[in-house]
Amino acid sequence: MSDSVKYLLPEDRIPRAWYNLAADLPVPLPPSLSPATGKPLGPDDLAPIFPMALIAQEVSTEREIEIPEPVRDIYRLWRPSPLVRARRMEKALDTPARIFFKYEGVSPAGSHKPNTAVAQAFYNREAGIRKLSTETGAGQWGSSLAFAGSLFGIEVKVYMVRVSYNQKPYRRALMETYGATCIASPSNETASGRAFLSANPDSPGSLGIAISEAVEVAAQNADTNYALGSVLNHVGMHQSVIGLEAIEQMEMAGFWPDVVIACAGGGSNFAGMAFPFLGKKLREGKDVRVLAVEPAACPTLTRGTYAYDFGDTAHLTPLMKMHTLGSTFVPPGFHAGGLRYHGMAPMVSHARELGLVEARAVHQNGCFEAGLLLARCEGIVPAPESTHAVRAAVDEALAAKAEGKPRTILFNLSGHGHFDMQAYMDYLSGKLEDRDYDAAALNASLELLPKVAAE
Ligand SMILES: Cc1ncc(COP(=O)(O)O)c(C=O)c1O
Repeated sequence: MSDSVKYLLPEDRIPRAWYNLAADLPVPLPPSLSPATGKPLGPDDLAPIFPMALIAQEVSTEREIEIPEPVRDIYRLWRPSPLVRARRMEKALDTPARIFFKYEGVSPAGSHKPNTAVAQAFYNREAGIRKLSTETGAGQWGSSLAFAGSLFGIEVKVYMVRVSYNQKPYRRALMETYGATCIASPSNETASGRAFLSANPDSPGSLGIAISEAVEVAAQNADTNYALGSVLNHVGMHQSVIGLEAIEQMEMAGFWPDVVIACAGGGSNFAGMAFPFLGKKLREGKDVRVLAVEPAACPTLTRGTYAYDFGDTAHLTPLMKMHTLGSTFVPPGFHAGGLRYHGMAPMVSHARELGLVEARAVHQNGCFEAGLLLARCEGIVPAPESTHAVRAAVDEALAAKAEGKPRTILFNLSGHGHFDMQAYMDYLSGKLEDRDYDAAALNASLELLPKVAAE
């Protein structure tokens, strides 16, 4: 197999259980808190918006959670996803490094997001839920939940960040093709949306605002639950199928990675790819670096404060201990809409605090440059979010070249960019700006972090 390009697993090698890093962590994850009492959240606090099965997964410390057969059966539509050795890119970079990527763009919606969308739709359907509300940034998550809803007979309503709603009409069309409703956020449909609009009628929206709208709808309607596309423990755990498969595929290839890389917005594809490898490191002492890559314009892990904060802008969610830029921080517009989130998955943040996770912030022009290299060598046009991982993989390969030593690099190619071609047109015509976050706005936002007695 040593000169193979693709490493493929048969359908019966789809993992039978999701992996939960909580079981292997040397220090337990700080609990999420109820904003009303300041006390750790109980299941009843979450029951109005999530089914019990997902609430149990959220707080579970079991290492393995069995994947229900109906979910595995749907996974067969695209899983196991391929692991590819980027041989042409290695050659173009003239590097001694071996570069592998796991390709999640083969899913029906085009990214890793259906791995959890299908699971969440399943558990909600089992609990008798027929309506789900959610938010979406660039539209990958909204179209994934729309796809999953169509399989389980669930009506899906998606609040899409306004700037992306206007930029990506075909993502909206995809959601509607799957039968979902897509609304630009902030909208006039919810009290929180109306409040944001009256404060700023031209608001471009943000993930934090769209989450407020979707949570409000679920909290106020007994027949509606809420589904989140990232951040929460159960979401990252559903994504562990990526890393679990990749471990087997790297064994087929005969290499253990020196570094495992993924982009990080809310942290779910990073958790899904990296945590199974971290588990091996913690349990078996297998050395590996894991690297999360984020935009310099929204640098949550590299510039954020590790503190309790809300997951949304209107403060309807529980308080989570995470790296945060503050829930009122609105990052400047840039093309990786799925990475414009003020917080980071508590589990990723905790692992970073424990020194288990490296983080790096990169600018968008460098990301698109790397994305183009991948497209021209390997044929795949990466999603703008995924180009962040490609950039870091290229930099690792160039560092190996400078050192004159081989290294094995594995990155997660979290999605394709077929609905993001405007971003590539802007890059190709030299229109993309490398924007940094506004330091004064960040400081002002961090000033407003909630004061939490538990800290
Ligand atoms: C292709 C792609 N990759 C990555 C992300 C970032 O999300 P997360 O950090 O949860 O993986 C998104 C979010 O929309 C996405 O669409």
